[in-house]
Amino acid sequence: MDSSQIHIKLVSSDNGLWAQCYSWFLDTYFLAVEDEIKKGSARSWRRVDRSQRDELKKVFENLISQKDKTCLLIAFEGDQPRGYFLGIVKDCVAEIPSMVGYINGLYVDPSKRRQKVASRLYEKGIQWFQEHEIFHYELYVALESQEAHQFWSQKGFVLSEQVMNLSLKK
Ligand SMILES: CC(C)(COP(=O)(O)OP(=O)(O)OC[C@H]1O[C@@H](n2cnc3c(N)ncnc32)[C@H](O)[C@@H]1OP(=O)(O)O)[C@@H](O)C(=O)NCCC(=O)NCCS
Repeated sequence: MDSSQIHIKLVSSDNGLWAQCYSWFLDTYFLAVEDEIKKGSARSWRRVDRSQRDELKKVFENLISQKDKTCLLIAFEGDQPRGYFLGIVKDCVAEIPSMVGYINGLYVDPSKRRQKVASRLYEKGIQWFQEHEIFHYELYVALESQEAHQFWSQKGFVLSEQVMNLSLKK
């Protein structure tokens, strides 16, 4: 694939792209989170429920309607979605900086990997954050996801904290 065939587009509630890509996005979101859960087995209670697809659709519709809070980018090859970046402005109440860019997800279809699709999504996502005066970014990475560790390290991200979990209920 020639990466110039990939076009990165910002999905908003009023540009018609959501209607075009929501089905792919929801399927992919489930896949991405399930994969992440598999690779971060210490948080064993975490799950997504595919039967709640309709509710999840509404959650994302609500998110993208908040234009200054959410950045959903889709990488299109023609009219076919191939990857996404989901960034959310996170309010760090009473801290400085008070807002950080939380990268909720970055995903590329397996057949399109290692062709810089994620890098292009990432660059556009960071550009969106900067246009919103957000200059600090954070995300969670599953412990066993080598590709994610490599990707984020290559972008300059460093490991700064470890998340400790306890579950008292099955
Ligand atoms: C991580 C992911 C988004 C990378 O997508 P991609 O389009 O293949 O990434 P790029 O082609 O832009 O890669 C940029 C660089 O990241 C690193 N990288 C990406 N995938 C890698 C892999 N599987 N192994 C080692 N390094 C990797 C490399 O340094 C790569 O540069 P190079 O190809 O010139 O060596 C993709 O593998 C994916 O969707 N994985 C599943 C979801 C996931 O883990 N997302 C991150 C969650 S926090």
